[in-house]
Amino acid sequence: MRLKGKYVNRILILPFMCFWMLSVAQKKENSASPTLSGKILYAQHCMTCHQADGAGAQNMIPTLSKTDFVLGNKARLINILLNGLNGEITVNSVVYGNEMPSQALLNDGEIAAILTYIRNNFGNKAGPVTVQEVKKIRASIKKQILIVYLSRTNNTRAIAEMIQRNVGGTLAPLELVTPYPANYHATVQQVVKENETGYLPPLKTKIDSIGKYNIVFVGFPTWDMKMPPPMKSFLKQYDLRGKTVIPFNTNAGYGVGSGFQSVKELCPNSKVMEGFSIQGGIERDGVLFVMKGEKAKEAETEVKKWIRKVMAR
Ligand code: HEC
Ligand SMILES: Cc1cc2nc3c(=O)[nH]c(=O)nc-3n(C[C@H](O)[C@H](O)[C@H](O)COP(=O)(O)O)c2cc1C
Repeated sequence: MRLKGKYVNRILILPFMCFWMLSVAQKKENSASPTLSGKILYAQHCMTCHQADGAGAQNMIPTLSKTDFVLGNKARLINILLNGLNGEITVNSVVYGNEMPSQALLNDGEIAAILTYIRNNFGNKAGPVTVQEVKKIRASIKKQILIVYLSRTNNTRAIAEMIQRNVGGTLAPLELVTPYPANYHATVQQVVKENETGYLPPLKTKIDSIGKYNIVFVGFPTWDMKMPPPMKSFLKQYDLRGKTVIPFNTNAGYGVGSGFQSVKELCPNSKVMEGFSIQGGIERDGVLFVMKGEKAKEAETEVKKWIRKVMAR
């Protein structure tokens, strides 16, 4: 009887022992894990927009509850924080077109803490994001991608932003000291003249330390079946030797013309990759920005395919 009693006692105590050991382990893990600081950092850096419960604001700020971005690919999630977002994004079937500022000023540990927090709150349950993972992504962004583009009616800009969303990097829209006229026909006439004389319009845009970039995306619309003069200004002004140059283009349906050939000619000492070209707007017919809705989705699918090709090492 006594022996049996002891035996029963032990069986009763065992689960409590296990529970106690687990809770000690849990506490240890908590003090080392970023959950607590994640909550505080979230309140400091994200809550004003995404709200305390992560629900966001209707049609303005997307939810952080059970989204692909929060629960899915961690590299993409880390990228969102490091690069911010601007342009269209579809979150749980709702399209947003707002700007999320880059959180790159937070350090790797803080970003890991915040992301681990949001992946385990608001109804989410997903593995932690580690400091090492953030470090790695930041380093890969530091590989330094520059996305230079010219865009008048924002179609080429939309492609540039898709590229940025997928690979990171710095966007550099080209602006002129003297902008082109608002009028389409006046602009066409001016461009034809510039092409005849080889005039290179001076750029207002300044890229500091071009040397730190090793991949330069170069995007422009087809103008007069050629590369627009401002992009020629850029490629003549900045020395891209030794860099990988990746061209992209939008046009009104007549193709890139001699644009990609010009990239090769103006970057004789660069590795010029296969360019990407897609139909954009037709300003002549009053069709301006088209990279939205279904069209944007299709374009992004194409862009991704192309990026996988040209960025593969
Ligand atoms: C100034 C407002 C603002 C702040 C601050 C902000 N966000 Fe966002 N966030 C947005 C907007 C707006 C979008 C959608 C972007 C778009 O429309 O292209 C977004 C998108 C996202 C997305 C992808 C879409 C989704 O909902 O899954 C994630 C993840 C995200 N934010 C996390 C964060 C985290 C974490 C922080 C804090 C470190 C933060 N955001 C801070 C406004 C903000
Ligand atoms: C001055 C000018 C000349 C153009 N010439 C051509 C052309 O020769 N062939 C063509 O397919 N599209 C031409 N287009 C249309 C643009 O290439 C097309 O709308 C493009 O998507 C615009 O890009 P953006 O929205 O980034 O400015 C021209 C547009 C402008 C403003």
